[in-house]
Amino acid sequence: MKMREAGRRPRLRRAFAAAGLGLLLAVAGCGQNSAGGDQEAPAGDAGGAGGLKVGVILPETDTSARWEGFDKPMLDKALRAQGLDPDIQNAQGDEQKFSTLADGMISSGVKVMIIASISGDGGNAVAEKAKAQGIPVIDYDRLNLGGVSDYYVSFDNEKVGELQGQGLIQGVGAKPGAQIIQIEGAPTDNNATLYTQGQLKALQPKYDSGEYKLVQNQPIDKWDNQVAGTTFEQILTGNGGKVDGVAVANDGMAGSVVTVLAKYGLNGKVPVTGQDATADGLAAILRGDQYMTVFKPIQEEADAAAKLAGALAKGDTAGADAVATQTVNDPDGNRDVKSVLLEPQLITKDNVKTVTDAGYIKAADICTGANAQACGQLGIQ
Ligand code: GAL
Repeated sequence: MKMREAGRRPRLRRAFAAAGLGLLLAVAGCGQNSAGGDQEAPAGDAGGAGGLKVGVILPETDTSARWEGFDKPMLDKALRAQGLDPDIQNAQGDEQKFSTLADGMISSGVKVMIIASISGDGGNAVAEKAKAQGIPVIDYDRLNLGGVSDYYVSFDNEKVGELQGQGLIQGVGAKPGAQIIQIEGAPTDNNATLYTQGQLKALQPKYDSGEYKLVQNQPIDKWDNQVAGTTFEQILTGNGGKVDGVAVANDGMAGSVVTVLAKYGLNGKVPVTGQDATADGLAAILRGDQYMTVFKPIQEEADAAAKLAGALAKGDTAGADAVATQTVNDPDGNRDVKSVLLEPQLITKDNVKTVTDAGYIKAADICTGANAQACGQLGIQ
C-alpha cells in the first residue's frame, strides 16, 4: 500500500471539512516533507517511512559499470530496507534527460531527491527545483560545488586519488626519468578534480625532484572511455611512444588505455591505475595489464544515503545529522556541507580476493582463460 496516497486522501478530507467549517488548515504546511507529522506509518513498516517515495537519478551507464551494476541494485535494496519506495532512473549522460527525470520525480511527490550528477551545473539546477518544492536533496557520490544540496554522501575522493598515485609509484618503482601520462576524469565532475589532487599528493614530489617526468595531464570530457583511448594514443605517439606509467582515473578508461598499450606491445610492461574494482578492471589486474584499482564498497555508500533519506522523508533532520557527522567545504558555495565520507581500498593483484570475498564480483566473471591459474594461486573462488 502506498502510504503516501492513503495519507494524502485523509488530509484532503480534513482540509475540505475544515474549509466547510470556515477553518483553513495550513494544508500547504503539511504538504511538503512533513510526512512524518500527520501520517502514521502503516503497521509493520520497517523504516517507519511508510513507503514514502524517494527519487534517485544516476548519471550515466557507459563511463563505468558501477552505476547500473552496483549503485542501482544496492540503492534499491537499501532504500526499501528503510521502508521507502525508490524510483531509480539513469540519465544516460544526457543533461536534459537528467533535468526531465527530476521534474517527473518532483511532480510525482517524492519526499527526498538523491542525485549523482553528470555535472555540477546540471545537479545544482535540479537541486534548486527540488528545494523550491521543499524537497531535501542528497548529493550522491559527487558534490555539486556552489550548490544548495543538504547533504553529501561519497567516498574520501582525495584519498582515492592518493591511493592511485601511491599505486602507480609502487608499480613504476625507482626509475629515474620515468615518463608519466595522466588520463583524468570529467572536468565537470568534482570527484575528478579531487582524484587528480590526491594523485599529485603522491606524484608531485617525484615530478619536483625530477625522478619522474610528467608528459601530460589530460582530463577527459564525460569520462568517455573511447575518447580516453584515442587521446592517450595521441599523447603516447606524440611522446615518441615512450611511457613508463599511466595514472588513469577509473577502470573504464583504463581498459581503453590498456588496449592502446597492447597495440604497441607495452601492455603488462607499463603500470596503469584505475578505480571502481569492476569485473573488467579486476580481470585486467589478474592478467597483469592493469596494476591497481580502488575498491569502494558501494553498499556502504548506498546504505548511508538510504539512512539519510529515511530520516529526511520523515522530516527527522536530527536523525539525518546523526548520520552525516562529517563536513566537506564547498569553496564555490562558501559553505560546509554535512557529509558521509567512506574509506576506499587499494586493490592490486595480491588482494583482488578482497573484492570477490565481499561478493561484489563473482570469481567466475574474472577467473576465465589465462586468469584461471592466477585465481588458483591467489585463492580466488
Ligand atoms: C566518478 C565516480 C567514479 C568513476 C567515475 C565514472 O564520479 O565516483 O566511481 O567511475 O565517476 O563514472
